[in-house]
Amino acid sequence: MDCLGLEQFHGVAILGFNSAEWFIAAVGTVFAGGIMAGIYTTNSPDACLHVANDSRANVIVVENQKQLDKIMQVKDKLPHLKAIVQYSGSLKEKLANLYSWEEFMELGLEVSDHELDEVISKQRANQCCVLIYTSGTTGSPKGVMLSHDNITWTAHHASRAGDMQPAEIRQESLVSYLPLSHIAAQIYDLWTGIKWGEQISFAQPDALKGTLVDSLREVTPTAHMGVPRVWEKIMEKIKEGISRCGYMKRKMVTWAMSVSLDANQRLKKDEEKSFLFTLAEKLILQKLRAELGFSSCVKFFSGAAPIGRETLQFFLGLNIRLYEAYGMSETSGPHFMSGPEAYQFLSCGKVVPGCQYKLININADGSGEVCFWGRNVFMGFLNLEDKTKEALDEDGWLRSGDLGKVDEDGFIYINGRIKELIITAGGENIPPLPIEDAVKQELSIISNAMLIGDERKFLSMLLTLKVLQ
Ligand SMILES: *[C@@H]1O[C@H](CO)[C@@H](O)[C@H](O)[C@H]1NC(C)=O
Ligand SMILES: *[C@@H]1O[C@H](CO)[C@@H](O)[C@H](O)[C@H]1NC(C)=O
Repeated sequence: MDCLGLEQFHGVAILGFNSAEWFIAAVGTVFAGGIMAGIYTTNSPDACLHVANDSRANVIVVENQKQLDKIMQVKDKLPHLKAIVQYSGSLKEKLANLYSWEEFMELGLEVSDHELDEVISKQRANQCCVLIYTSGTTGSPKGVMLSHDNITWTAHHASRAGDMQPAEIRQESLVSYLPLSHIAAQIYDLWTGIKWGEQISFAQPDALKGTLVDSLREVTPTAHMGVPRVWEKIMEKIKEGISRCGYMKRKMVTWAMSVSLDANQRLKKDEEKSFLFTLAEKLILQKLRAELGFSSCVKFFSGAAPIGRETLQFFLGLNIRLYEAYGMSETSGPHFMSGPEAYQFLSCGKVVPGCQYKLININADGSGEVCFWGRNVFMGFLNLEDKTKEALDEDGWLRSGDLGKVDEDGFIYINGRIKELIITAGGENIPPLPIEDAVKQELSIISNAMLIGDERKFLSMLLTLKVLQ
């Protein structure tokens, strides 16, 4: 990164689907004293511009021609931009300061180890190294500043709460496919992967259009994380498969799933499993899980948005407990985690050891706004001191904007949201106000507009017309 003219604390924006190059670019940026910022592959050119400009990007790493085209449209508005690297496909035309991955790697050979060591030794644990862009309730996405310490601490502690094992004890293996610009996949696939020496395989870019299951079958991961929409899609697919089975097979599967759901909802941790359950598991459920690529998978995580009761129950029917995680970009990812040692149906688990929480403004049913504290809590929003002040109280507690309740064993249940923000089943955060205002402004005939999409797979809008009395 250094040989492209990356200056300390300047950005390197990465725009592409999960790949080894994405990881290398991210880690290279951090070592070179830059700040890495992932951009969603679905972002418009203007949305890319916002991230690249806000982070004062010296370098943009793009996947292919399609992503390069977006950057070419806005590059003249980026005063700090010095180089673009394309990591996949061949370059369509040769432009100054546009490098293929091979050319970029070759440039690196000219830099001596001594120079690299010097740059690395300048790093300090309290300096920002990662930016996660996240939607607030108004305005453009804000850059959440995370320090080396925030990242390494979270990669260690949150993943232990989720029972991820160091490679010396057991080789964890997983498939990387969720957007790495989101904190959930970035902390789980990349930073935790490095921490414990996990084996990471990259899915195809069309993973979510149906090829994910092929990758899972090929890799047979030991752990798998999905956003609720991913688990729903898997559920829909299995249901469809079952409905196409013959009568006997359908009966058997339905029976096995009901036995498993029943056993899983009743079972305390070390309770004996019944003979019927063992039979259902051996005869049917193991095979069903193997068809999904989960024959070696022992940990299943869900995060980034609340997951529905029906989905959780469906997977208990397959003898799969979905371990929910709860946190924000501003907490480097999970602040509460479920795992084999901390599981309750419908709960997002217990606070990650070393983190703290408190509930404020507690209402009659015992729910209050969840506030966070810990070494995972961010440094602030880039270039937005006033927004940072709003997010933290005077003692440095981070306000989540979520309503939660904690039972006597320490399990948290999230049951509402105070801030005006829609979180879709895919985990996308969408502030409704700017969209509603824009519609009202464009269509003068509309009196009220309300965006709907919380926990749903798409957005829709309820509109009322202006009428004369
Ligand atoms: C880029 O950022 C600078 C300073 O942060 C700001 O003044 C400028 O308006 C931004 N440009 C664009 C095109 O957003
Ligand atoms: C996250 O890292 C920054 C920089 O090291 C630090 O200021 C912040 O306090 C960290 N979070 C906490 C709560 O320790």
